[in-house]
Amino acid sequence: ITVLFGLTDFWNMERIMKIAVLGAAGGIGQPLSLLLKMQLPAGSELALYDPAPMTRGVAVDLSHIPTRVKVSGYAGSDPSAALAGADIVLLAAGIARKPGMERSDLFKFNAGIIVDLVQHCARVCPQALVAIITNPVNSMVPIAAEVLRKAGVYDPRRLFGLTSLDVVRAESFALDVESVTNHEVTIPVVGGHSGVTIVPLFSQLSRGQYDADELTSLIARVQGAGTEVVEAKAGAGSATLAMAYAALRFCLSLVRAKLGEANVREYAFVEGGHADAKFFSQPIVLGAEGVAQVLDYQPVHPVEQAAIARMLPVLNKEIQQGIDYARHVLQD
Ligand code: LMR
Repeated sequence: ITVLFGLTDFWNMERIMKIAVLGAAGGIGQPLSLLLKMQLPAGSELALYDPAPMTRGVAVDLSHIPTRVKVSGYAGSDPSAALAGADIVLLAAGIARKPGMERSDLFKFNAGIIVDLVQHCARVCPQALVAIITNPVNSMVPIAAEVLRKAGVYDPRRLFGLTSLDVVRAESFALDVESVTNHEVTIPVVGGHSGVTIVPLFSQLSRGQYDADELTSLIARVQGAGTEVVEAKAGAGSATLAMAYAALRFCLSLVRAKLGEANVREYAFVEGGHADAKFFSQPIVLGAEGVAQVLDYQPVHPVEQAAIARMLPVLNKEIQQGIDYARHVLQD
């Protein structure tokens, strides 16, 4: 028994962080899990969950990559084993859109998945940081908040809608027009993660360099980027690879903050910090408990300010739709 306790202590000391990926066998889940296996700090544990029977196989496959990240896979209808002891949960489960669909068309199907999985999170790992990738993010995050609230474990600092794909895209499009290296580019993207609610602030890259027309077309380009991928994939789904990269980046920021690094900055769709919307994607500083501070994203160009003002009713409607759905199914 002493020997066993000794081994357990050793393992606990070694395991610095447990990350659970829900939807791990899907189009985003698999490349995301690969990237995490390669980039999480040594001693981390990666738990993959997906209803698909192949999930254990995905974990075995990844376990053959020689990094000191322990991978386990769980299939079936219960994610509890994957969630047990999780510090961070990345929720990528759900269906993707096809050409002609808006993200909001996924609401009905994906909302039920979010309720179910977040109920498990609330029960099994109530202290975990939960980042939601599942669309429509603008509605799924408020649903998750209501589920956690109903379970009595909601802390707005620990719930995120993952909008860093918009930041990644804005950075990428800036590289097309700017002579900068990718390390020098940071483009704030605020608002939400659907169509007009995505507002990149290119004016903050090189103030005064873009005229109003250029800003208008750069905003439209980022807003339409998801649809561009959906159309190019012609019915075979939406963005998976850039999404996985964006989620990796965000997750590594959470890990760094949880491990005590100061001043870790990110963008995410979080509750609080904005006067005109209950949830808003905005610049944040991360700490061990999640959001440590919401940062101001001003000043913005008048074109960007107008885009924010125009989209607020859409964003607030999508947020309210999530809240109403959750309150209805949770019988509040
Ligand atoms: C994206 O922005 O690529 C994702 O939200 C997926 C989608 O449906 O556009």
